[in-house]
Amino acid sequence: MRTKAELLAELNQDLPDRDWRRGAQDYLKFFFEKYSQGQIEEFVFTRPLGQITPEDPVGAITETAGYLHNFASSIQLLQLKRGARVLDVACGGGWFAHWMRKLGYDAYGMDISSDFIAMARQRLQADPYVFRTTESPESIFRVQDFETDRLPDDLRGSFDAIVLESCLHHFFDPVAAMTHIAEGLAPGGVVLVLEGENRQGPIRDEYMQVMLETATLERPYPRILLRELLEHAGLPHVEFLGALKGYFAESAWVSQHMTLHLADSIAGSNICVCGRDAASVQRLVPSYGLAPVPAAPVPAPRRNLSQRVALSLAWRLRTLCLKLAGPGAPL
Ligand SMILES: C[S@@+](CC[C@H](N)C(=O)[O-])C[C@H]1O[C@@H](n2cnc3c(N)ncnc32)[C@H](O)[C@@H]1O
Repeated sequence: MRTKAELLAELNQDLPDRDWRRGAQDYLKFFFEKYSQGQIEEFVFTRPLGQITPEDPVGAITETAGYLHNFASSIQLLQLKRGARVLDVACGGGWFAHWMRKLGYDAYGMDISSDFIAMARQRLQADPYVFRTTESPESIFRVQDFETDRLPDDLRGSFDAIVLESCLHHFFDPVAAMTHIAEGLAPGGVVLVLEGENRQGPIRDEYMQVMLETATLERPYPRILLRELLEHAGLPHVEFLGALKGYFAESAWVSQHMTLHLADSIAGSNICVCGRDAASVQRLVPSYGLAPVPAAPVPAPRRNLSQRVALSLAWRLRTLCLKLAGPGAPL
């Protein structure tokens, strides 16, 4: 395995020179200069739901559906019992941890931005219908820089699941961050990474523009580098996951080519579940570590006699029509 320094050099080679730590800490301050307090609060407190705007209704619907889908898929994958301990890494305004508490989990959230953490605490305090322990909102939502600091003593080794919802690409030193995060796992615990694009080639221009404007990192990982950094962080057991999002029509291309669609979904994004040992991943993904089973041929549907006669007549009629229509007729 390469050294951590060699890996980081490759991961960060295309990045502009910025103070990323300060950029992350001041992220909300950047928006306070552009928007009113009310607009920012609405944005943070309604998340994961986004207001549908007249200018871009589809954008808001797509983003909202993405968050809801990630949440639903995460809880379904993790299968945690009531009271299980969950950490929401880089929680922003804390919606994920808040909703986990609404389900009955002992969920915590941490973020580098004290502005976000203040709002997360406010969000939790305003809701009486959440899982409660003796912990205060101050200890449930805490300011933490995952890159520079280990988790506090009381949280190390305590989490059944740790979720990174769209945040790994923000870390300049993701190896240090993941090492600190992995220390939070209880025995048998897992880390669920929800990351977008599995990058092929250079960082896209649109990401570069956001980075230059806001000084926050937007660096999607090529999967091979993501695997390497997880291994450095003590998480060598990784299973990548695909997602089927939303309804699909019987008549649509995707329904006829579901295998291609699924393969594309798994290859295109970097959603993965990882653990220190194989058993923790196998508990959630029983096929982990096994060679993929080739798809069995789909059995022909069983038909009764009258259905078979009707089908045979329809087929003969079609053949006759084609003969009468002559060459070049549609099949
Ligand atoms: C795209 S936001 C995602 C927030 C949250 N998961 C959500 O869905 O609202 C990324 C978050 O990463 C946080 N962040 C960036 N660098 C960090 C670091 N070194 N330690 C902790 N949090 C960090 C930012 O403050 C921001 O809240």
